[in-house]
Amino acid sequence: MNRKVVKVGLLGLGTVGSGVVKMLRQNVEELAQKCGYEVEIQRVLVRDLEKMRAVDVERHMLTRDVQDILEDPEVRIVIEVMGGEEQTKEIVLQALQAGKHVITANKDLVALHGALLHRAADENGVELLYEAAVAGAIPIVRVLKQSFAADNVREVMGIVNGTTNYILSKMTAEGAAYEDALAEAQQLGYAEADPHADVSGLDAARKMAILASISFRQAVELADVKLEGIESVTQQDVERAKAGGQVIKLIGRARREGSAIEVSVAPMWLEAAHPLAKVGDCFNAVYVYADALGEAMLYGRGAGEMPTASAVVGDLLAVLRGRKFAAAQPQQMARWA
Ligand SMILES: NC(=O)c1ccc[n+]([C@@H]2O[C@H](COP(=O)([O-])OP(=O)(O)OC[C@H]3O[C@@H](n4cnc5c(N)ncnc54)[C@H](OP(=O)(O)O)[C@@H]3O)[C@@H](O)[C@H]2O)c1
Repeated sequence: MNRKVVKVGLLGLGTVGSGVVKMLRQNVEELAQKCGYEVEIQRVLVRDLEKMRAVDVERHMLTRDVQDILEDPEVRIVIEVMGGEEQTKEIVLQALQAGKHVITANKDLVALHGALLHRAADENGVELLYEAAVAGAIPIVRVLKQSFAADNVREVMGIVNGTTNYILSKMTAEGAAYEDALAEAQQLGYAEADPHADVSGLDAARKMAILASISFRQAVELADVKLEGIESVTQQDVERAKAGGQVIKLIGRARREGSAIEVSVAPMWLEAAHPLAKVGDCFNAVYVYADALGEAMLYGRGAGEMPTASAVVGDLLAVLRGRKFAAAQPQQMARWA
């Protein structure tokens, strides 16, 4: 089969970037069968050229200068897995304006600058996809945008932060104090040394702003999300909830009533029989209520090297199979790809 090669620029080679490299290498043939293209990583942006990496990448492929990727006409797709806000916004904007499709795992970027970046993508006829930015491997973005597109979504409820779910699950199952559960989450690498963004609910709020914007097809600003974290949840609260047949979970909630949209993140007391009450450990889940559908729930890993890479590479396939990715000549694809 005479296949075309597509060159990709990778911004970041940390947890997610390494997973993306592994997945692209392990699945060259399957991916080519599914989209008709052979994907090749052209350059990789990093901060430290000398650092030991989780994957072997030839030295000449690494760069500290993002222009090596943005100004390379052969690079048609940019995968942003470096994190950051303002500087990353400028980089992604430049990539879109240069006619490159962009895939990002960065919820901060999408929650804060999604409207601007979507406009730039539309103006330049390219894709901006970000499945990994919300609930990691769970394909909730695509489901809301495509599978539920014909339906009228009324409410989205989710456990979209694995760190806080781990802490609350430990407090519930083992009677751990908040501080001990947090320390254990840090030891296991689920929580950062500075856990503020997770335990304050900010991380979940960013993801809920994105989910609400997609569900209700209008931009929901982060500032519009009512926010309460789990720092003040005590073991006594957990015990009181248990005694009443309930479980405390950090729940993101986006609701539409007429033209009013309400988005919040807060600890909620859920009936133990509620499907979200059963989502333990560091797992994520998103529960959707829509007029025709009724109820549906998606459940899975919200973070981690390979789960997140799977969502990123899924977006890459979507770009390569999409109408905006103008193929120079028809590609041969496996019949049922
Ligand atoms: N980790 C997860 O499970 C997960 C899940 C969902 C979404 N995400 C999102 O995915 C993104 C990446 O997360 P991660 O965990 O992979 O981060 P990470 O392990 O810290 O990796 C970040 C990578 O980007 C590079 N980088 C950062 N700033 C840079 C700059 N200014 N110039 C050049 N290179 C730069 C770093 O280079 P050096 O290695 O040289 O320092 C590193 O390779 C974030 O937006 C995160 O929110 C992560």
